[in-house]
Amino acid sequence: MGGTTEPDTAAARGSWALVTGSTSGIGQATALRLAEDGYAIVVCGRDGDRAAETRRMIESAGGRAVDLVADFTDMAAVHRLVGEVRQALSGEPLDVLVNNAGGGGFAPTEETTEEMFDRAFNLNVKAPYLLTGAFAPAMADRGRGAIVNVGSLSTRMAASGTSAFQAAKAALSMLTKSWTAEYGPRGVRVNSVDPGFILTRVNEHMRDMFGNYLASLPAGRGGTPEEVAEAIRFLVSPRASYIQGAVLSVDGGKNSVVVM
Ligand SMILES: NC(=O)c1ccc[n+]([C@@H]2O[C@H](COP(=O)([O-])OP(=O)(O)OC[C@H]3O[C@@H](n4cnc5c(N)ncnc54)[C@H](OP(=O)(O)O)[C@@H]3O)[C@@H](O)[C@H]2O)c1
Repeated sequence: MGGTTEPDTAAARGSWALVTGSTSGIGQATALRLAEDGYAIVVCGRDGDRAAETRRMIESAGGRAVDLVADFTDMAAVHRLVGEVRQALSGEPLDVLVNNAGGGGFAPTEETTEEMFDRAFNLNVKAPYLLTGAFAPAMADRGRGAIVNVGSLSTRMAASGTSAFQAAKAALSMLTKSWTAEYGPRGVRVNSVDPGFILTRVNEHMRDMFGNYLASLPAGRGGTPEEVAEAIRFLVSPRASYIQGAVLSVDGGKNSVVVM
């Protein structure tokens, strides 16, 4: 028998995960879980203080992280972020990309200005597109990697007053399939997680208004960021090794039943 073989874990490989929008909510919960799984984390968002706080949370639990700041409605900032990530990793592999930062575009169509529309598509589609184009080829060259796009229940079900957001998330959902076709054969698994109503900062102001609606869901309540993060953690892990191009709904059953 030979000597001991080092286990093929994220920590052993020195793997990094870039989680966009990890300064709060679903992204932060995901960053903390992937750090527990041994990934070094690139934390990023717009708010530098909360980015640094998330990095400190990871470090105080024994993990490794860097914190970077970028506004994804500005493509120059996204290009700058790509350079900063490469510099921070100095040759260590980025094996996971979670395209989580998103939002915007919440207005009736006739009140959505071109600028609002462009911001929604920049944030939810173009920034993930540029990041994937920047980092997926190196994953494919190494023959391993996982990308998770955080979509929305609204990629498949419409609600009034959020058309630009819905169109952007639907485009991102299609990109999960496009990237599965492009990178899947070279070892990069790409999947989507579609949250329903998750209790985060974005909908704090709507919780009372949605009380009856949430009670009527099969789950009987809104979801937590941690519940979405667990789905992302699973899709990134080797336990999901045969799952590619899939959409995992984390919506308390909303997608499956007619709520009366
Ligand atoms: N919560 C829900 O019910 C729900 C439902 C469906 C889909 N989603 C999706 O889930 C994802 C996470 O949302 P969340 O609920 O966790 O919201 P959240 O707590 O507000 O977190 C959003 C994250 O995205 C970042 N972000 C927002 N705009 C950005 C921009 N222009 N540039 C760079 N980063 C930006 C934020 O960074 P800063 O705070 O630092 O600016 C923050 O880290 C989003 O894609 C959202 O569309 C959420």
